[in-house]
Amino acid sequence: MFRFRFARPLVAALALITLGGCKPLDDVAVLVFGRSMRNQRSFDPYENPRGAPENSVAFASGNYPAAPGEVNLGQPEGVDVPRFTQLDLGTPGVGNEVIQGLVNPMDPNDAVSMARGEEIYMRFCVVCHGPDGVGANAYIADKHPLLPAYNVSGETVAAYSDQYLYAIMRVGRGLMPEYGSRITHFDRWSVVNYVRQLQRQAGNTPAGGDE
Ligand code: HEC
Repeated sequence: MFRFRFARPLVAALALITLGGCKPLDDVAVLVFGRSMRNQRSFDPYENPRGAPENSVAFASGNYPAAPGEVNLGQPEGVDVPRFTQLDLGTPGVGNEVIQGLVNPMDPNDAVSMARGEEIYMRFCVVCHGPDGVGANAYIADKHPLLPAYNVSGETVAAYSDQYLYAIMRVGRGLMPEYGSRITHFDRWSVVNYVRQLQRQAGNTPAGGDE
């Protein structure tokens, strides 16, 4: 009997404490004590976010990893990658002087670069240009009426410079999207090397800007 005498007030007290956290009992607490735990001096989410310090520069951009296979940490010294846009593509196959001045940092015959180029090509390009670079063999050729007209491994593109291939990939052209934001500087050059290999396999001789 002794035990149960305390049970009821205990349950009532627990219920009061539990419910006390919710409105409207919480409002009662405000009436009695003048304040509640709802009113705190803490920040609400997204309240008063702090702006970046004055004169600070946004960190990192997708184009400038320090070396092949490294994570991009802003633009390191020694890797000077000029800026250009689709407007600089200029003459098909050549590009304007900014594009002509690009230098392939990857050895075109390097097996590691070639393997990386294949990996990236199979990830990004194959859907539209086909495993052998022939647009008509692309997975979406029947849905994209223009693709069969373009062969990345054909004679036309074999005659393009390395720099122009790199540039198309980076800024896109016509209906082809840009991949500069998704494929890094070094990987793009590896894809150029791989596309050159596809051209050789198709029986064409790549022009090769600096091969
Ligand atoms: C979403 C589909 C799509 C993807 C993915 C794609 N391309 Fe293209 N590509 C196109 C189209 C469409 C064209 C024709 C562009 C035009 O209208 O000038 C083209 C054109 C090209 C050309 C020039 C062909 C020529 O005859 O002048 C090259 C080179 C090329 N792409 C390489 C690549 C590489 C390398 C990748 C992977 C990084 C890639 N493309 C990914 C759709 C795509």
